[in-house]
Amino acid sequence: MSDQRTANPHAIFIPYPLQGHLIPSVQLAIKLASNGFTITFINTQSIHHTLTKSSTTTQDVFAEARKSGLDIRYATVSDGLPLGFDRSLNHDQYMESLFHVFSAHVDELVGNLVKYDPSITCLIADSFFVWPSMISNKYKLLNISFWIEPALILTLYYHLDLLKKNGHYDPLDKFDDVIDYIPGVTSIKPTDLMSYLQAADTNTVVHRIIHKSLFEATKKADFIICNTIQELESHTIWTLNHMQPFYAIGPLFPDGFTQELVSTSLWSESDCTSWLDHRPPKSVLYVSFGSYAHTSKHELAEIAYGLVRSGVSFIWVLRPDIVSSNDDALPFGFEDQVKDQGLIVPWCNQKTTISHGSIGGFLTHCGWNSILESIWCGVPLICFPLLTDQFTNRKLVVDDWKIGMNSCDENLKVEREEVSKKVKDLMIGIKSNEVRNGVKKVQKTLQDALGK
Ligand code: UDX
Repeated sequence: MSDQRTANPHAIFIPYPLQGHLIPSVQLAIKLASNGFTITFINTQSIHHTLTKSSTTTQDVFAEARKSGLDIRYATVSDGLPLGFDRSLNHDQYMESLFHVFSAHVDELVGNLVKYDPSITCLIADSFFVWPSMISNKYKLLNISFWIEPALILTLYYHLDLLKKNGHYDPLDKFDDVIDYIPGVTSIKPTDLMSYLQAADTNTVVHRIIHKSLFEATKKADFIICNTIQELESHTIWTLNHMQPFYAIGPLFPDGFTQELVSTSLWSESDCTSWLDHRPPKSVLYVSFGSYAHTSKHELAEIAYGLVRSGVSFIWVLRPDIVSSNDDALPFGFEDQVKDQGLIVPWCNQKTTISHGSIGGFLTHCGWNSILESIWCGVPLICFPLLTDQFTNRKLVVDDWKIGMNSCDENLKVEREEVSKKVKDLMIGIKSNEVRNGVKKVQKTLQDALGK
């Protein structure tokens, strides 16, 4: 008797073990499985452990998806560090382990999987990994690189050599130039480059990862799929496509946007719905700085007092590790002081929260998932980029698409007066209409992209 499942294309899918990478990866796995793929999805043991701690999920996070008929199998692999190791507090050690140790564990697991299941023909791995070309060559798998940030960011990493040649990387010392020589990028200011390209020290572990993965390994992939939208980045994508097959497959959201088939939260979610139910339409600002970046207590205090001064109601997601794993993030007594104006939670279901009719704006760190989700909900943004691609994403939001505004002026120092002004501008001021109309247009582009 023939086994129907073995006739399906079968891919091993390995997401980068960070929250903002896991979320679109799970959505992509579900979409592929809904279109006839068999997927073997591999989380690190640490991500698996954190997922099961933060939700009611037990052994297999894809159990529900399988009940609905999807052929998604699940396995875990060590990232090289003990489960109890604090990966957020010891970020560089975590990255070193992913750089040097992880590939050996992946190699062993993939080797075993392909040995017992010859239907596996394809590896889908996050573009930030340094080993996909090595592993896919070894096991004769099609090598598909999954890029979760905008095409613009990949293009800039792709051309590190050009940036270096022109004095705009390693070291970046010409801050007043306009960069207009990168294929697919009309122009960009050095201050809008990713934080790693602006750094004085370019020998950190993240720089080494970027060189090995994005500048070298990703170029060897059979093709790249990206959580972006063709119409939003057409020139960049068209140009990338002349170097390597590159497909825009975003936005990657669950069907129905808020109905998650698989739990992907690494923190327990607080429910903000009943608090929001009591607020007028579009009156609440949602504030979140994502899953990865840290910020200082000083900056948080400026934002906190800026929010108070604005008088606007807010929901503020403050991750327990936003400053460091052990520090209190907010000024003493702040939460009590604002209890009639704002709700502060450690984590929530962001898609559910920002799709609530009472949300009228999003003060964001400019993570790519957050930007896409906000556009989907028609919510305009105030940008407070902290790290990595977020500075470049800010350019897309404010300068190119005009769907948001900056949180601070050119010197990039966040100050309470300015925060208060920007929050009022976005929520009730004259500028509000401009960015709201902007976001409506881009929202339509996303809707059309999903319609196809
Ligand atoms: C980093 C990069 O900056 C970003 O561009 C990349 O896409 C992922 O890694 P991150 O801090 O993870 O960013 O932000 P973002 O991309 O916005 O992803 C955060 C995800 O967590 C979003 O999907 C968001 O919906 C979710 N989230 C965030 C919640 O579900 N609840 C929260 O309380 C906060």
